[in-house]
Amino acid sequence: MLARFNREHWHDEDEVRFIIEGRGLFHVHPLVGPVFAIEVEGGDLIRVPRGTHHWFDLCADRRIRAIRLFQDPSGWTPHYTESGVDQGFQPVCFGPTYVSAVTRA
Ligand SMILES: [Fe+2]
Repeated sequence: MLARFNREHWHDEDEVRFIIEGRGLFHVHPLVGPVFAIEVEGGDLIRVPRGTHHWFDLCADRRIRAIRLFQDPSGWTPHYTESGVDQGFQPVCFGPTYVSAVTRA
């Protein structure tokens, strides 16, 4: 499933997810401005507007459970940009695992 969404893509409708548990990272590539990352965790609700270039990665624990809301199942289909911009970004999460690793160093 991850391989389907960890390359830059966009959808025909808003991507709306409610995170139940675990952690993940959305990278958003706006038409104007730099790429930015949004880390999500249990209890978060995110909406990526339709047409927005983005990709998704798991955090270090490689685990997430989410409810995806969509208007039509075809809206789930990713349209890949094949820009390669996603290759220049590491999926670095700054949640409890990162803080723990830093304090042990
Ligand atoms: Fe997506």
